[in-house]
Amino acid sequence: MKKLMAANWKMFKTWDEASSTAQELVDLAAAKLPDDREVLVFPPFTALKAVADVFASKSGFSAGGQDYYIEEEGAFTGEIAPKMLLDVGGTYGLTGHSERRHVLGEDDEYIADKTSYGLANGLKVVFCIGEKIEERKGGRVEEVLERQMRIGLKDVPKDIAPENLSVAYEPVWAIGTGEVAGPEEIMEAHAFTRKILISIFGEKANEMRILYGGSVKPGNCNEIIALDNVDGVLVGGASLLSESFSQIVLA
Ligand code: PGA
Repeated sequence: MKKLMAANWKMFKTWDEASSTAQELVDLAAAKLPDDREVLVFPPFTALKAVADVFASKSGFSAGGQDYYIEEEGAFTGEIAPKMLLDVGGTYGLTGHSERRHVLGEDDEYIADKTSYGLANGLKVVFCIGEKIEERKGGRVEEVLERQMRIGLKDVPKDIAPENLSVAYEPVWAIGTGEVAGPEEIMEAHAFTRKILISIFGEKANEMRILYGGSVKPGNCNEIIALDNVDGVLVGGASLLSESFSQIVLA
């Protein structure tokens, strides 16, 4: 199983900025990228083609859309269909990110529709889960993660190819705050995530990647990537500069 080193650029970077950061990343990391690593960047929609073009001939580098809608086409102003992401070279989609859940109001049911729709329409999907600080303090981490997974993945076919679905555990309190979850917290949450995935998909869930996200940076990624059940990372802030993201990718 290749470790998936993913960058979420959120609402940052113009076309030129995205194109040059992607090129720098290739220059810094492509030659040294181990065979068991895959690099994935989620640029904003407007820069997806710029990044996908830079990555086109590079093995081990992929690009994807931060979001997409659950219809093939139609009168859905502002929305983007999976086939439009594929059309410009995006091969992945992101679902369930905490900012879509908690800032933009997406609920578990909609995230479930989006996750299964993307998979059924040719995308690989990174599906995010994670508890809020009050849920952790209230001892509800497992309850929240289990609910998010059981609802969010309920329509994903059981015969899915395991490399097409990754789960990112991103505790909401660690996203963009500089506060990273400790090794014990990460290992507990990832072991629990694996257990639930196995109960849903059977043994093949051992081949699904579970990423950690939340204030990953060059200074902490070596320790995080070495933990049990950590099959990659999803990086926001520290992925915006090619120097820091290339260090993470090669950690
Ligand atoms: P962060 O964001 O690395 O800036 O904490 C992670 C994410 O939102 O995926």
